[in-house]
Amino acid sequence: MSGGNRWRESRAAARPARRTAGLLAVMAVSMFAATASAQHEATLEPAGNDVADTASLQRGAMYFVNYCLGCHSAQYVRYNRLAEDLQLTENLVVQNLMFTGEQPFDTMTNSMRPEDSVRWFGIAPPDLSLIARSRGTDYVYTFLRSFYEAPASPTGVDNVVLPNTAMPHVLWELQGINRAVFEADEAHDGEEVFRRFEQVSAGQLGTQQYDQVVRDIVNFLDYIGDPTQLAREALGVRVIAFLLVFLVIAWLLKREIWKDVT
Ligand code: HEC
Repeated sequence: MSGGNRWRESRAAARPARRTAGLLAVMAVSMFAATASAQHEATLEPAGNDVADTASLQRGAMYFVNYCLGCHSAQYVRYNRLAEDLQLTENLVVQNLMFTGEQPFDTMTNSMRPEDSVRWFGIAPPDLSLIARSRGTDYVYTFLRSFYEAPASPTGVDNVVLPNTAMPHVLWELQGINRAVFEADEAHDGEEVFRRFEQVSAGQLGTQQYDQVVRDIVNFLDYIGDPTQLAREALGVRVIAFLLVFLVIAWLLKREIWKDVT
């Protein structure tokens, strides 16, 4: 093989490498751009919910039925499944969670027709079965705590996390009404950025109590987004425990067998 050939070969090998490097550069730049634009968005606060906390799930289910189900469905969730997972008797579920003559094997839907909701809100409220998975628990937690008064909006409120949202502040009686303070930010060419909330009128609950209510709702949404996660985690722990016990047995067995050999 001549030298020229070898050179050509190595050039050919270098080409895909250079293409990969170029691709990486493009990815790095676009990732930088993504983080840069994310800075303009609201910072999400950690939901801190715990799907193993059954009492919190029970409260979350109650809040969900009372405050959300009127507009949003959870079409993949059956009431009898809830009863089982949340350790409620079917009677309790019927009395506390089912108000409009549903059957225990029904899913959590409402009677709002999509065309009506579009007429009322301009957009149909999304089904919330998978919202905690698609948007993330921190997102929903921050969203429900970020409504502020906006007289120009049809609902009288706006939201820092989802600007121009069509959703009204359905928990305003609990939280009260906030004003949002926006200030010009030098780092972003004087663009207005959200700084903080100031309470205009108090609600029935203090800040921490309200946060707990939202955490319970988010916990419930987290659970319905993946109802088997509780069982799966419990099974995982048992599998690991079995493997550890088996490890000891295997080690003892090995010692027994090799005793005579060494
Ligand atoms: C009066 C009707 C109504 C009620 C009650 C209601 N919502 Fe909404 N919700 C909406 C509408 C309309 C949208 C669509 C908003 C948009 O896209 O601007 C929405 C959107 C959402 C979203 C999606 C936000 C996004 O980023 O797309 C979440 C999460 C949500 N609602 C949670 C809740 C929870 C939790 C409750 C109960 C505490 C609730 N909603 C009660 C009308 C309602």
